[in-house]
Amino acid sequence: MQRNHERISFGSKLGAILAAAGSAVGLGNIWRFPYEAGNHGGAAFILIYLGCIFIFGLPIMVAEFTIGRRAKASTGGSFGVLAPGTQWKWVGYLGVLTGFLIFGYYSVVAGWTLEYLLQALTGGFNNKSADDFVSMFTEFSQDPFRPILWLSVFMIVTHFVIVKGVKNGIEKSSKVLMPVLFILVILLAICSVTLPNAEKGLDFLLKPDFGKVTSDVFLGAMGQAFFSMSLGMGCLSTYASYFGKDTRLAHTAMSVGLIDTFVAVLAGVIIFPAAFSVGINPGSGPSLIFITLPNVFEQAFSSMPLLSSACASAFYILLALAALTSTISLHEVSTAFFHEKFRISRHKSATIVSVGCWSIGVVSSLALGDWSGYTICGLNIFDALDFLTAKIMLPVSGLLSAVFVGWYLDKNIVKGEATNYGNLKGTFYPVYIFILKFVAPIGILLIFFNELSLF
Ligand code: TRP
Repeated sequence: MQRNHERISFGSKLGAILAAAGSAVGLGNIWRFPYEAGNHGGAAFILIYLGCIFIFGLPIMVAEFTIGRRAKASTGGSFGVLAPGTQWKWVGYLGVLTGFLIFGYYSVVAGWTLEYLLQALTGGFNNKSADDFVSMFTEFSQDPFRPILWLSVFMIVTHFVIVKGVKNGIEKSSKVLMPVLFILVILLAICSVTLPNAEKGLDFLLKPDFGKVTSDVFLGAMGQAFFSMSLGMGCLSTYASYFGKDTRLAHTAMSVGLIDTFVAVLAGVIIFPAAFSVGINPGSGPSLIFITLPNVFEQAFSSMPLLSSACASAFYILLALAALTSTISLHEVSTAFFHEKFRISRHKSATIVSVGCWSIGVVSSLALGDWSGYTICGLNIFDALDFLTAKIMLPVSGLLSAVFVGWYLDKNIVKGEATNYGNLKGTFYPVYIFILKFVAPIGILLIFFNELSLF
């Protein structure tokens, strides 16, 4: 494995934070978090989720940063660099595989955002009834061509950014896209809470209902925490290999965690007050943002079609940008890996990844329509990929990364990375190690066993 001491790095610490936050903030925040929270006890879910972030998320993020920055290699190679001649390399490969699979089905939903953006811009939502929105989404998502067309557009844009490289592609795009995204989330949230009867939606999102907390809510919250923070497949470890020596790992992890949670909660604040305000029962799953929301935009401003189109467009731009900064990070994991492992150019490597993930995307897209008959354990291929990656592969490799840094890796290395080679105090270092050694592995296993016994 090529280990590059002159490795390119992000130009600034802010660039590093924004790139990592760009990876974290994505469809997971806006598409998955609100309905998970709304349907699993509101604030009760949010509390468990925050617990997962603190107990598993942040320490594992710092562990991933440690692996990447120390090895100066992409995830797929970093375990091989730090533990040469051992089987740990498989954890790296598992990460690359997970990234490939996630990217595949993720880009399908990312593509949908473009179709909806186009509809919003061209007044395609005007004068539609609730039923029209249902059939519009069903017909579109089951169509064998249109979603694939959008998926391809999304793939090409991601490919283009990746080919531009780490500094000019990833960092530059994050520095532009992330601020735009923040402004859009805040504006839309303000719009939503000022609608009549918005309190009901805020209640639904924020009122704790511990009655809805069952054991699988814990698995759900943990899976969501991993997915949303881009953990468990070395996305952030690949980015950390581009961190400079003075980037503070714990500080960066805290910033990413804060930004990510902030956007997720605000996404709920956008969606639920608006939905309750117009008396629409929020659906769950993809239908929330592709059926409920267009209907909400249409009804909230039914007398002002232009305003309705503007809000809807702003929302789908937000969604598309959030998805883009995440697909960039998913792409980078495999591109950097193939580039280093097989010593092919970045361009060639990116092409292989784009074509490979595009093919998985095509299969996932068809799985919602013509191929919905093919199922794995009762789930169509799209849902099976989501379940397998978010609920199984991410926690498993997150657990292995925690064990690797907590138990295997030389503590001088671990402490050196956590304290920037002795330049930081490292007040929380003992807590961090304790979590990596015991709390995270045992916690993840317990949540798993709990779930298995339910089957
Ligand atoms: N975190 C992103 C989101 O919330 C998705 C994502 C990007 C991801 N990279 C990842 C998820 C790595 C898991 C692992 O949408």
